[in-house]
Amino acid sequence: MQTAHEFFLHELSDMLDGERKLVEILGKQAEESARPDLKKGFQMHQRQTEGQVSRLERVFEELDAEPEAAECAGISGLQEEHDNFKQEDPAEDLLDIFNVGAAKKVERYEITAYEGLIQLAQQMRHRKAVQLLQQNLREEQQTLKKMEAFSKKLKPENMGMGEEEQNPRGRKASRRRAA
Ligand SMILES: [Fe+2]
Repeated sequence: MQTAHEFFLHELSDMLDGERKLVEILGKQAEESARPDLKKGFQMHQRQTEGQVSRLERVFEELDAEPEAAECAGISGLQEEHDNFKQEDPAEDLLDIFNVGAAKKVERYEITAYEGLIQLAQQMRHRKAVQLLQQNLREEQQTLKKMEAFSKKLKPENMGMGEEEQNPRGRKASRRRAA
């Protein structure tokens, strides 16, 4: 690879694969959510992500190019983290917290990726591509804010610290024993 054009098409193809994967992943996360508000949040972002896929396809049309067969290893890695975590048989509330954390990681990844794509598109003076990519970037930034608000609301039900540490009287007793 030698040219900005080749590089841009490569990065765009990677992003398109990532967004397509996310449509599937978000559907799974919506199904898994124990909280109705979270379920709705993931469903909404799934629909939004379908729109992002269409915008990326339009960028390819604008450039009169075809997407390459690319695999977004970043998003696959995050998907693998999710699948491994599920094998730990997590409680519902913990799975919700995990999924919101994963969504925040995804958004930060996507925000950085879109910023890079936009910079390249600006340097290459692809005005229409800049516009389309900026729309996707704005949606990712809004979703990150929403997920941050969710994560503040979520709290694990069971702190798992044992009775002595959860009960102030118990803690006193254990301190006395230690002294
Ligand atoms: Fe996205």
